[in-house]
Amino acid sequence: ATEHKIDSLLKLMTLDEKIGQLNQLTGDGEVTGPITLAVSYQDAIRKGQVGSMLNVNGAAYTLKIQKIAVEESRLGIPLIFGYDVIHGYKTIFPVPLGDAASFDLESIEKGARVAAIEAAASGQHWTFAPMVDIARDPRWGRVMEGAGEDTYYGSLVAAARVKGFQGNNLGDGTTILACAKHFVAYGAAMSGRDYNTVDISERTLYEVYLPPFKAALDAGVATFMSSFNELNGVPVTGNKEMIHDLLKQKWGFDGFVVSDWASIMEMLPHGIAANQYEASEMAMNAGIDMDMEAHFYTAELPKLLKDGKITEAQINESVKRILRLKYKLGLFEDPYRYCDTAREKKELLNPRYLDIARDAARKSMVLLKNDNVLPISKSVKTIAVIGPMADNQDDLIGTWSARGEAKDVVSMLTGIKDKMPNSSVIYAKGCEISGDSKAGFAQALAAARRADVVVVAVGEAAMMSGEALSRAYLDLPGVQRDLVLALNELHKPMVVVVMNGRPLTLEWMDQQVPSILEAWLPGTMGGPAIADVLFGDYNPSGKLPMTFPRSTGQIPLFYNHKNTGRPRIDSVRYTSKYIDSPNTPLYPFGYGLSYTTFNYSNFRINRPTMGMKDTLTVTVNVKNTGKYDGTEIVQLYIRDMVGSVTRPVKELKGIRKVALRAGEDAVVVFKLTASDLAFYNRNMEFKAEYGDFKVFIGSSSAEVQELGFRLAQ
Ligand code: IFM
Repeated sequence: ATEHKIDSLLKLMTLDEKIGQLNQLTGDGEVTGPITLAVSYQDAIRKGQVGSMLNVNGAAYTLKIQKIAVEESRLGIPLIFGYDVIHGYKTIFPVPLGDAASFDLESIEKGARVAAIEAAASGQHWTFAPMVDIARDPRWGRVMEGAGEDTYYGSLVAAARVKGFQGNNLGDGTTILACAKHFVAYGAAMSGRDYNTVDISERTLYEVYLPPFKAALDAGVATFMSSFNELNGVPVTGNKEMIHDLLKQKWGFDGFVVSDWASIMEMLPHGIAANQYEASEMAMNAGIDMDMEAHFYTAELPKLLKDGKITEAQINESVKRILRLKYKLGLFEDPYRYCDTAREKKELLNPRYLDIARDAARKSMVLLKNDNVLPISKSVKTIAVIGPMADNQDDLIGTWSARGEAKDVVSMLTGIKDKMPNSSVIYAKGCEISGDSKAGFAQALAAARRADVVVVAVGEAAMMSGEALSRAYLDLPGVQRDLVLALNELHKPMVVVVMNGRPLTLEWMDQQVPSILEAWLPGTMGGPAIADVLFGDYNPSGKLPMTFPRSTGQIPLFYNHKNTGRPRIDSVRYTSKYIDSPNTPLYPFGYGLSYTTFNYSNFRINRPTMGMKDTLTVTVNVKNTGKYDGTEIVQLYIRDMVGSVTRPVKELKGIRKVALRAGEDAVVVFKLTASDLAFYNRNMEFKAEYGDFKVFIGSSSAEVQELGFRLAQ
């Protein structure tokens, strides 16, 4: 019936109205890219020249703009409002990389659900999330927006986020369309510099970068966004092989594809189109349905059609893809259903959502080191709280924080004061995040001298990770390192809370400071969540979704690398190594400590050999051997020892989150089938190959036990 309605509507539409549906303009709120052409979007909407708006916010304002489309344009087709709802809408969650450190798919899905409920109550229909780009280079600022370096885990997170945003019933008024971005390989930008060239093998593309997009698709993602980057010589926005042939034809994606901001225009500086006519032709023929802010489709599609470079059937196809989702959202039934100011008031920053955000933030925290400082006793008398991230609301919120406001963020200092009303809390900033002034050091040292325990909060400003925020140096900015080291000289019990949007190079810190807690940029409820962890109300269980290198010289560094023909042997010169650094990271993928300890024993498999149709059962006993209740993330990796192409030294294939009381143990079971062992073989067929495998179980990618098994006929 919907298809029939769409066909009838299409018959009523002029060519310009059809092209209008393919046009997305930005509002005058927050703008997330360069303005290529200033137009009055309200006039354009009135003329039926706009199918979607981005960056138009709030129930009242979206209502006003929707009314123009519905009541003043000739056909009254409602707009879709899209927005970057990346880690919360008003209630801000930890940045996605931090959220992923929970290894808790339920929690990740719930966070996306809350974001969708708030956004949908505030006029939005569509988020430009999740970003499912695998990221192996922490210099790239956008690592903050993804789930880290691993394809298997990234695929699980992609699906969880899509389900969270879209819910079970797209169109129930509390869900929003998700958008898998940035298709594809944007995370492989050379040298980690945003928007830089991507040149990777077909194998790497298929093995590493594509699977999370496929997982998002399988989870029902409604839309895709094409990436800015070129891929092996062809910008993806004009890449027919990737978008039309692979995504739409082979994978059968039936939603719509939006370009990234003016990425159709960017085919000019890329040097693949001489003018906007050629760029539009390439994008349309590649399968880009909606032009975000380049204004090229509006200008060029009529001419391209006249010249026979594109067909009306192609335009119709794109229009239908967009209208279908407008129907699915229920916008034709009631275009104003998302613009309800009473609902907006009730939903935004609802205390229930704040609790969920606090829990997500606690779950995201990774204990990197702990020499007996944490948890801090609640009977401690004097606590020095020091550092530029301590009394800080602006940065804890991170970038891409939608309608989140710094004023709603509970700082770490407030979190600690609220938790410890009977202790004396002395605060000193010490220094700024950036800059070279040490004028505040004396006061910070004086505060620390008076204290029983010192909590130092350092890190990156919100605007140091995210889009167009790549860094060449990954140490703490400014004089924060000097501050930490000066405080450390006092030899007080000290914990450094690090807040950042990417892995940093903290080897010096690890060597000298007793305790380190990775808290990411934890969002609205960051302060209380940190206090929960510091004072033992929550035992940290997060694990790193991305390797922390020792130095930038090691980058890219990731756990699932190949063995090489000359794996490192320290004493042998001609092996694959640095002469001035270990090959190993500072903190490996999957790493994270707890206040308790877990013992792994009785690791076993149910058979030494399996066939293509068999299941291998992998079992391990995990015991909480410490004093605290705790949660462990048990990880399973495999290695295919000999393949028709070389295979990584480890590949994650299973995670289990196990909560254990002190002294309690559990039997943790994983099942592996041949499909878990499959990869793209020499002929690029996705298959498992007979031969020897290893299976590893452990608490991180580096700390594992191993067993061998065989896949045989
Ligand atoms: O969604 C974003 C994208 O990730 C980067 N360019 C702008 C888009 C819309 O804001």
